[in-house]
Amino acid sequence: MKPEEQNKVLQAWQTSAPYWDKYRALITQMYAPVTTGLIEEAQIGVGHNALDIGGGSGEPSLTISGIVGPTGSVMYTDPAAGMVESAQAEAGRRGLTNIQFRQCSANDLPFPDQTFDLALSRFSAMFFVDPLRGIREALRVVRNDGYVSFAVWGPEEANPFFSTLNDVFDRFVESPTQDPDAPDAFRFAAPGKLAGILENAGADNVIERHLNFQIEAALSFERFWELRTETSVSLREKMAGLTPEKIEVIKQAVADGAQEYFVSGKMRFPAEALIVSGRQFREKRTPV
Ligand SMILES: C[S@@+](CC[C@H](N)C(=O)[O-])C[C@H]1O[C@@H](n2cnc3c(N)ncnc32)[C@H](O)[C@@H]1O
Repeated sequence: MKPEEQNKVLQAWQTSAPYWDKYRALITQMYAPVTTGLIEEAQIGVGHNALDIGGGSGEPSLTISGIVGPTGSVMYTDPAAGMVESAQAEAGRRGLTNIQFRQCSANDLPFPDQTFDLALSRFSAMFFVDPLRGIREALRVVRNDGYVSFAVWGPEEANPFFSTLNDVFDRFVESPTQDPDAPDAFRFAAPGKLAGILENAGADNVIERHLNFQIEAALSFERFWELRTETSVSLREKMAGLTPEKIEVIKQAVADGAQEYFVSGKMRFPAEALIVSGRQFREKRTPV
């Protein structure tokens, strides 16, 4: 990725930070099954020293803080200053003392080799400037035998939480064809793609788990529309070029298409994520 593209990605996350802060509780609830999956895959337990890469408004760091307990610790990282401030403020409100915060990119983790028991990241690896380098960095900073686990979105067709809006916007707003390796929510949706990068980075025992879950919350269509159009950089950009009348037409088309996911004041979308994990064996095992 060229430096100007890197800056664009970072700037986009920086402008998203207030919205991710605003919807923090909902985001925590909606993606909780993915956090649970990551905790299982990375085998996080009491006393562990965990690294969260691209922690956004605070997850999974804030949840893991409770799992590792007072004898463990969490290092939250994110390159966007606004995200770091948001997560740190929430940890302060909750009185959590076992989390530390560092503003940094996955590309250059400012930690010595073998600092952590494990490293993980929820829905951030798709935005890494250089995923191979970011994953090598994660492997460098975990101890021998430590796990690295990355949660990414499965295919867009399996995630109507996104496609119900994206498909309609695509019909109304022309968007250039995207490079499949550009930073995007679905960059690693293809089975084996991220797993291949982990293997190239030197991870052992690479496993790709397909996690089918429900994105659920007590949310009306109106609030869902607000959440999606505020937290998504690409939708905010598309909306900025549209008249209020055109936005209303799009919103109605989305509401018609999304009806089945809103019943009795509750939102429930089927969803698919991939959790790709590997381990760091510095002394490679000799085949038996
Ligand atoms: C979709 S958000 C996910 C945030 C959080 N982990 C969650 O699941 O709610 C993606 C995050 O990746 C971060 N990010 C972008 N580029 C990154 C990079 N090069 N290294 C690490 N994180 C990055 C963004 O700042 C943003 O907070």
